[in-house]
Amino acid sequence: MTAANHEGRPVRTAVVGLGWAARSIWLPRLRRHPGFAVNAAVDPDPASRASVAAEFPDIPVLAAVHDADLAQVDLAVVAVPNHLHCEIAAGLLHKGIPVFLEKPVCLTSAEAEQLAEAERVGGARLLAGSAARHRADVRSLLASAGDLGTIRHIELSWVRARGVPDAGGWFTRRRLSGGGALVDLGWHLFDIATPVLGSANFTQVTGSVSGDFIARDSARVSWRAEKAEDGQDGQDGEPADAGVIDVEDTARAFLVTDDGVSLSLHASWASHEERDITRVRIDGSAGSATLRCTFGFSPNRLEHPELTRTEDGRTRRIPVPDEPIGTEYDRQLDELLAQLRDPAGPGRAVEEARRTIGAIERIYSSARAAQEKPRSYRP
Ligand SMILES: NC(=O)c1ccc[n+]([C@@H]2O[C@H](COP(=O)([O-])OP(=O)(O)OC[C@H]3O[C@@H](n4cnc5c(N)ncnc54)[C@H](O)[C@@H]3O)[C@@H](O)[C@H]2O)c1
Repeated sequence: MTAANHEGRPVRTAVVGLGWAARSIWLPRLRRHPGFAVNAAVDPDPASRASVAAEFPDIPVLAAVHDADLAQVDLAVVAVPNHLHCEIAAGLLHKGIPVFLEKPVCLTSAEAEQLAEAERVGGARLLAGSAARHRADVRSLLASAGDLGTIRHIELSWVRARGVPDAGGWFTRRRLSGGGALVDLGWHLFDIATPVLGSANFTQVTGSVSGDFIARDSARVSWRAEKAEDGQDGQDGEPADAGVIDVEDTARAFLVTDDGVSLSLHASWASHEERDITRVRIDGSAGSATLRCTFGFSPNRLEHPELTRTEDGRTRRIPVPDEPIGTEYDRQLDELLAQLRDPAGPGRAVEEARRTIGAIERIYSSARAAQEKPRSYRP
């Protein structure tokens, strides 16, 4: 980590939303990083505030963003439920506060435009992006893709054996999440492809979604302590619509860019598989590179990432450094400091988000167009 400063001092950071992501990922790392100082933690939920106050007694906890003295804030890290991303981030950007916004950056193309407008009016920078791009194995894969010739196809797949987050809470209610595995895991997968795709746009998009596992108790994620189901999700003051689960656990899609690269995507919160596996394969005119690993914090993971190159009928292993789970988030903080100093940066996060949400909207639209009939194969 660098001891980078913002105008000669650590970046004074407000963390907005104090749930699992803030408490498990961001607060501990921001505290450790010499380039950041956390000077406010905001959440309307008293239980979330109490957890943070107990763990980090010196961080001032507040119930609302407008209680914070924004003159003392150089950056807001926003990790609230998805339906609040745009509203909260745009509000801060309008006030001139740079924002690092968790994925999914936005839930509609209209929200992407609201963020663009807020960035422009406030003159502040939106930062975003998946930490997965900063994994050592993903970096090795992307480096390896540099000499694959003309890129033809990218296969992106993140399939968990089981790992539905917060079933019955906001993650599985479309109104609050914007969608299921596609919006949640798929956003990370699109982000991995971004460096390879450059500025190309998707001209053809088709997809399907399903939910064969999502209501099963056995499909729930094991690595986050979920709240007791008491009929209230208690996080955004909205009733939990107990029992309402109206998003997919699995999405499959095929897309083609305007410059002829195809991309297949498979995102599953739960499946028939034994382990939680992420697979990224890049096919080029001169060879292919394939990474198998496990993204995220799942304990049901591939022990070591495997990167291979295949050319002329021969496959060889490429060594990849092992690193502790979550190292990519530390690197993402280093990257945030660099991005805050980058004068060419404004607009980039929105540009990437526009393409990703545009593709996600079209995958859902394609999936809706299919009339599902229960059907199994009988030879
Ligand atoms: N990058 C990653 O790997 C990763 C991992 C997990 C979650 N996430 C993302 O982080 C975000 C939060 O996810 P989570 O798992 O922490 O959810 P969570 O439900 O555990 O936490 C959300 C928190 O936001 C709070 N909140 C609600 N309204 C608020 C408001 N107006 N102002 C401030 N706080 C408010 C809730 O009370 C809750 O404490 C989601 O967008 C999710 O997609 C990213």
